[in-house]
Amino acid sequence: MSLDGLEKKKTIDLRQKHIGPSCKIFFSHDPIKIVKAKGQYMYDEKGQRYLDCINNVAHVGHCHPDVVKAGAEQMGLLNTNTRFLHDNLVLYAQRLQATLPDKLSVCYFVNSGSEANDLALRLAWQYTGNKDIITLENAYHGHVSSLIDISPYKFHQLSDAEQSQFVHVAPSPDVYRGKYRADHPDAATAYADEVKDIIEKAHIKGHKIAAFIAESLQSCGGQVIPPVGYFQQVAEHVRKAGGVFITDEVQVGFGRVGSRFWAFQLQGDDFVPDIVTMGKPIGNGHPMSCVVTTREVAEAFMSSGMEYFNTFGGNPVSCAIGLAVLDVIEKEDLRGNALRVGQYLTNVLEKQKQKHPLIGDIRGRGLFVGVELVKDRVKLTPATAEAQEVIYKLKEQHVLLSADGPHRNVLKFKPPLCFTTEDADLVVEKLDSILTGICLLAADVLRMRSEVLCCYFLHSRVGGSVRLEGKRFGKYRT
Ligand SMILES: Cc1ncc(COP(=O)(O)O)c(C=O)c1O
Repeated sequence: MSLDGLEKKKTIDLRQKHIGPSCKIFFSHDPIKIVKAKGQYMYDEKGQRYLDCINNVAHVGHCHPDVVKAGAEQMGLLNTNTRFLHDNLVLYAQRLQATLPDKLSVCYFVNSGSEANDLALRLAWQYTGNKDIITLENAYHGHVSSLIDISPYKFHQLSDAEQSQFVHVAPSPDVYRGKYRADHPDAATAYADEVKDIIEKAHIKGHKIAAFIAESLQSCGGQVIPPVGYFQQVAEHVRKAGGVFITDEVQVGFGRVGSRFWAFQLQGDDFVPDIVTMGKPIGNGHPMSCVVTTREVAEAFMSSGMEYFNTFGGNPVSCAIGLAVLDVIEKEDLRGNALRVGQYLTNVLEKQKQKHPLIGDIRGRGLFVGVELVKDRVKLTPATAEAQEVIYKLKEQHVLLSADGPHRNVLKFKPPLCFTTEDADLVVEKLDSILTGICLLAADVLRMRSEVLCCYFLHSRVGGSVRLEGKRFGKYRT
């Protein structure tokens, strides 16, 4: 046993023996064992520090002392379910509501993003009396059965997956690689018209729309920023068809985008969803989540006659933690930091784009930034292997970043909001040298290929292998 627990090998062995094999681990050939964390840094069992550029759960910083204290104090006092009156529940609901448009005033507290989205679907079904759901290409909304059905990111991984007849997939409003791009005169309308078209086709088949669901900014789908005005137009089409608009803020909410508290607000104040789901950052690592909706939707849910009870959702400890998270966001001006550092990060990345042809696009808001790697800036050929190489090399240099999107070629920055400009410089400096290495390697391969070709012609009458710098490159015959 090491000071920090089991020997790493023992941890790996026990994990292989007792944990479901589909629970994947980062860097499986050489996983990292993290034993503690603080702020934007994580530490392995040997005390090695890693810069965390991906953890959007540890929103206000890993193990923030105010959050830990709030949870521990309340845990020492009382933890129970919401069938008893408790101030934490109502005070937290009130604080959360103050961040939202007035109309979104009723909360249901649950325990995970999946639970929140599953409940959102139930609310939509009950309120509208309709069944069909429109989701976006590459979307991920959670791991429970109802959500796998509306998560193309997941169900497309199964070769024999059949899309539910009640689910319709609209094109992702991606103006870089999607159907309508930045050069389109009105991409927002074009993408919204696709949804209108889906609704019309569903109606022809006798189907009725219960909801359109989308992340306010698509995350697993490749850090996609929908064009402004898209949500307003989609909402109009969907509401006209009797459905509701659900925004999933599980990844992007709570001030990550900097300029606004909620990412859906980037569309403009004239857009208000009917249901908002929240998760990950809400409890800074404590499992809690929430669905907020309108009084009308909540009343309709009530009218079904079925009680809604959730053993852990909204318990006094979770609400104390939620309140502490909101306090820290405010006290430490983390939204302001997300805006400033996010802008700085985007600026330094833009300089890298001028230097490295592999960088096709940089897009983001606040500390939600995507860097799309492409082999060809015109054809947009995804540089998937290169993106994997980048994240593996960064890991070797103790920086944690991930690559996602349908082609796994988008580097995703979504660090704790206490990320600094120095952190941004550190990761971008390393990214620069890795991309330079990849570029030199590619040039080397090209040079060797042309040398092999020369050799081939020079030796075209003799059978044998071509060897360059000790490597065998091909066997040729006369
Ligand atoms: C956008 C989005 N919605 C919902 C979920 C599901 O949340 P959870 O894993 O807490 O169930 C996730 C999880 O990654 C997510 O990214």
